[in-house]
Order: sequence, then structure tokens, then C-alpha cells
Amino acid sequence: MAVVLGIETSCDETGVGIVVDGRLAGDALASSMAEHARYGGVVPEIAARAHLEALMPCVNEAFAVAGLAPSDVDAVAVTAGPGLATALETGVAAAKAFALAWDVPLYGVHHLAGHVAADTLEHGPLPERCVALIVSGGHTSLLRVDDLARDSITHLGDTRDDAAGEAFDKVARLLGLAYPGGPSVGRAALDGDPHAIAFPRAMPRSHDFSFSGLKAAVARHVETGLVSVADVAASFQEAVVDVLTGKAVAACREHGIDTLVMVGGVAANHRLRELAAERCAAAGITLRVPPPRLCTDNGAMIAAVGGLLHAAGAPACSLELSIDPSAPLTRASINRSRSPAPEYREDLPRGRR
Ligand code: KG4
Ligand code: ZN
Repeated sequence: MAVVLGIETSCDETGVGIVVDGRLAGDALASSMAEHARYGGVVPEIAARAHLEALMPCVNEAFAVAGLAPSDVDAVAVTAGPGLATALETGVAAAKAFALAWDVPLYGVHHLAGHVAADTLEHGPLPERCVALIVSGGHTSLLRVDDLARDSITHLGDTRDDAAGEAFDKVARLLGLAYPGGPSVGRAALDGDPHAIAFPRAMPRSHDFSFSGLKAAVARHVETGLVSVADVAASFQEAVVDVLTGKAVAACREHGIDTLVMVGGVAANHRLRELAAERCAAAGITLRVPPPRLCTDNGAMIAAVGGLLHAAGAPACSLELSIDPSAPLTRASINRSRSPAPEYREDLPRGRR
């Protein structure tokens, strides 16, 4: 039996999860979202301070829910990037302290690999290969995933500008809806006509994405003042989910892959789940989407990656593990150590050494 504790602090959610042999045993989540709402986006220093305050209560809660104790833990996994530097540092520092104190291996995990692995907690091991659509606040990527713990990850398409979640957040602001924008646009869209406005679908023949033109089109529409918020929300949402599902299904077809895994915060979107299910069924593709609470950031998904790395016998990280705020997604693990300190230089003035 392998018990892995996972810690996620890359943005505004403090997530702790405990995974036992690939199954979620207990987790806890705290969010500083409300503290950022009046700024319209996440303030890194506020997020970092909130992580410091929430981390130990979340760890204790996850253990209580799982009915386990620190002495049961076989490995610790932590998001090492990408994300906000000061926020990542809090989680990595805590994970190092636990790994040292409990004398267990430490695994640095790529946040987006965590999103993909989240689905294994609900639907079991991933197939030999699949296409993954990651749609979060910071990323929109179409990937070919083989063995998540052992193989490198191939990018089939990425966004050229805004991420899908970012587009939801910006359009929410244009429409005067609450932050975070995804859920509030989704709610407003329920009363609107998705075909009221023919918003553009960018880059139709590519696996890459672009949402800045769509955002600009929404802004132009809002400027006319003649719009129903519900119709704009519904038409905007339809344009986004049409593009996402269309490209994901095309990528599966082109690469002869019959499983699509859809993950990340935007995968919580009701209309995206509905249209993806419809189009995958028509194309004979098996669709896997985690339940909404595992789509948004959480600690269990990081523990899930840790469990896969541990089971695959991946090398553990040293306590020199460094955060990588802009880590590209090439592998599930991040095993980067701090570059050596610069040599002491007598000739440099104090403060510039
Ligand atoms: O994956 P996530 O929790 O954090 C990142 O790693 O970015 O994704 C957050 C993003 C935000 O942009 C949020 O507006 C969006 O996911 N989101 C949604 C929904 N729930 C969250 N977008 C559309 N519909 C939703 N129901
Ligand atoms: Zn995320």
C-alpha cells in the first residue's frame, strides 16, 4: 500500500490530498479567492500569506478525513510549477519539511500534469495513450499523453494568446459579472440564447487556439449598449466550447486515439461537458472528465501524480528542489535544483554580491 500526501499552492487555492494506491482517501481545500475578488484577479502576496495560514489546518483535516497519520505516509508530492512564485514557495517549503521530518521521498510535480491525473482518481488508470485537453485559468493545451509517469508529453496545440479560463474571466469583467468569471458567465448563460450572436471561431484549421479576437468581439458588442447580458454570455460560451470540443475531437481523429480526457477549471463548465459528450459519442471517442470539484485546483490531483511517479520508481527530488514558476509542460515531474550560489566576490559592494 502506498500513501502519498499532495500539496497544491500554485495560485489561490490551498489544496492538500491523500491518495492511497491511486484512490482518493481524504482531502481539504482552502481558498483566498474572496480576498482577491475586489482586485479582479489574484494578488500574489495575499495568496502566499493565505497559503501559510491555511496549510497546516488543511493537512490536519486531510489526515482526519482519511483516518491516517503522518507515520502512514510513503511519499510527499508538491506543485513545483507553473504558478505564482511566492505561492509556490510556501507549498514547496512545507513539502520539504514534511519529507525531511517523515524521512520519505519528495516529488516535484507539474501543476498541469496534476490536472490530467485528477481523472485517475475518479475513473482509474489512464489508457496506454490519450489526448488531453487542459483548459484552466492560465493554460489551454491539447496534448498527447502516453505513460504520464514515464514518458514525455507531446503538445498538439496551445493557445496563442489568452487561456480559455482567462477569456471567461475577462468577459465576465466586461459584462459586470463576479470574479471568478467562469462560473458566473456559465450561470448568466443559462438564461441566454447561444445563437443570438455569431461570435468568431478562430484558427479553424489548426490545433492551436486563440481567444483574444473573441474577447475583442465581445467588448465591441458590449460597447453598443444594446445587448442582453445573458445572450452575450451564452453566445460567448458557445463559441469557446464549440472551438474546444471541435479541436479536441479532430486531434483524436488525426492521431487515431480513442480516449479524450478533459481537465482543468473550465472543464467544470456544464455546456462544455455537454457538447464534448455529444461530439465524442458521435465520433466513437471515450470521454473522461473528472467531477467538477476535481477539475478546479486541488491537492488530491498532485498526490495522484506523486502516486504514479512513486509506483513507476521515478527518482525522488533532493531537498534542493526549486520552484519553476513558468515550467513548460514536458513531463509530469519537475526535478530542478537551485543553480549554485554565485561565488563570493570581495570586490562587489554589499548588497550586490
Ligand atoms: O484549473 P483552475 O482551477 O486554476 C488554474 O490552474 O488556472 O482554473 C481556473 C479557471 C478560471 O479562469 C475560472 O474562471 C475557470 O477555470 N472556471 C470555469 C468554471 N469554473 C472555473 N470556466 C467556465 N465554467 C466554469 N464552470
Ligand atoms: Zn489549475
